[in-house]
Amino acid sequence: MLQTMTQETRAGDLAYADARDRLEAEIERFSRQSGQTTLEVPRLNFEKGETRFEFLPEDLPEEKILESLRVIKNHIEHIRIHTLDPGYVVFQSLGPNLYDTKHFLSGIKFKFVSITNNFRVEASRSGNFNESELQTCIELFQLFNPGKKESDPTKKLEQLGVTVFPPVQTESNGSSENPWGPIAGYDSIKREVEECLLLPARHMSVFQGVAQLTRGDGAANLPGAILFEGPPGVGKTTIARLAAQAAGLPLIYVPVENILSKFYGQSAQNLAMIFDTAALFERGILFLDEIDALATSRESGLFEATRRVLSVLLRKIDGLDRTGGLLTVGATNRAEDLDHALLSRFDQILRFPLPNEQERASIFQSYAAHIAPEALGILGRESDGLSGRTIQDICESAERRWARALIEKKQALSAPEAEVYIRVLREKKAGML
Ligand SMILES: Nc1ncnc2c1ncn2[C@@H]1O[C@H](COP(=O)(O)OP(=O)(O)OP(=O)(O)O)[C@@H](O)[C@H]1O
Ligand SMILES: [Mg+2]
Repeated sequence: MLQTMTQETRAGDLAYADARDRLEAEIERFSRQSGQTTLEVPRLNFEKGETRFEFLPEDLPEEKILESLRVIKNHIEHIRIHTLDPGYVVFQSLGPNLYDTKHFLSGIKFKFVSITNNFRVEASRSGNFNESELQTCIELFQLFNPGKKESDPTKKLEQLGVTVFPPVQTESNGSSENPWGPIAGYDSIKREVEECLLLPARHMSVFQGVAQLTRGDGAANLPGAILFEGPPGVGKTTIARLAAQAAGLPLIYVPVENILSKFYGQSAQNLAMIFDTAALFERGILFLDEIDALATSRESGLFEATRRVLSVLLRKIDGLDRTGGLLTVGATNRAEDLDHALLSRFDQILRFPLPNEQERASIFQSYAAHIAPEALGILGRESDGLSGRTIQDICESAERRWARALIEKKQALSAPEAEVYIRVLREKKAGML
C-alpha cells in the first residue's frame, strides 16, 4: 500500500477556510482593543498538504522566545525543543499522547528565526491546525505586538471584564461596629468571615503572633482561598462585598461566567492576566463569582477550552502568596459539581444554607423595621424555603403596592401595614407552587 505523506485528520481539526476566518476576526478585534490600527494580519497558508502560519516581528529577543514557550505551553501539553541554535529555535508539539510514536515527529513546529536583522516567527504542520494550535498562533502574534501598555491595574482589569470596588473609608472601618448592614442571621458564617478576613485585615500582628507562639512560623493560619457555597440569593456576593468594605480592602470582582463567554477562546489567557494584574494590588479580595461556570466535573467531559481555563485557575490559586495580601474567594451554587482539583484548592468551604424560620423573620425585619414582632413571626413561619433575595423582593414589592395605594387614595405618607407583606408573601408562595 502506498504511504501517503499527508497527516491523518484529527478530531477537532479546523478546516483551512474556517481557521483563516477565525484568525482574521481575532486579529481585527485585537487591533481594535489594543489600539493598533496598522497591524498587518499574519499570513496563513495551506499548500501541499501543509498549514503554515507566519509573521515578521520587529525584533526577536531571547526573552520573547522564552515567553513564547510559555504561551505555547498554555495550550499544548507536550513540547520538545527541536533545535536550539543561535538565530534558529524550534519547538515541536509531541501530541497529546506521549506513547503514540507513530505521530511523534509530525506535531506542529514553532520556529523563531533571525537572520541579520530579519526576524520571522512561523508555525507549521502537515494537515490542518486544531483549535489550540490556531489559538497559540494568535497569542504568539499578540505577544509580539503588545500595543500600548495599560499601567493602571484597575483600568486593565476593567478591560478584562473585571470590576474593582475600591475600599471606602467609612466610620465603621477599624471599629467593632456591625459591618453586616442589612444581612440578618447567618451568625456562624459571619463569625468565620470575620476570623478569616476581617480581623486579619485589621490586626494581622495578633494572628502572626499566635502562629509564632504555637508553631514558630508566620501567618500560616490564614486561608489563601475560601469557597462560598449555597443556593441563589442567600447573600454570598453581598457578604463578600461587605467584608471587603469593612476590612478596607478593594474587592476585585471577577464574573467568571461573563469572562468565559465574553472572551471565548481567550479566556484562559485573560484569566491568567486577571490574576497577575490583581497581584499588583498590595492587598485585596479576589472574588470569583459563579465559578460553577467551570463546574461540570471531569467525568462529564470538559470542553477543551474550559479545561485550559481550569488549569490556569488551579495554577494561579496555588501560586498566590498567602502571606501576601490577596485572598481568593470563590462563590458557587453547586460545590458538588466542581472539579475536585479545584475544590481542593480552597482551604475552607463556607456553606450558606437557606435561612431558617428565625433568620427569615430577621430578614423581614431588616427590610421592614417597623413591623411588630407577631407579624414578623407569621412572615418568618410562612416563608419556608425562600432566600434572602426573595424576601427582599417581597418587601420591596409590598412597599410599591403600598405607595400605589397611597397615591390612588390620596392618603398621607405612612409605612406599609404588616398585612400587605403577608399578602404579598402568600401570593408569592402561591405563584411558586
Ligand atoms: N440574610 C440576609 N439578610 C438580608 N438580606 C439578604 C440576606 N440574604 C440575601 N439578602 C439579600 O438578597 C440579595 C441577593 O443576595 P446576593 O446577591 O448576595 O446572593 P448570592 O448568594 O450571591 O446569590 P447568587 O448565588 O444568585 O449569586 C441582596 O440584596 C442581599 O442583601
Ligand atoms: Mg452572587
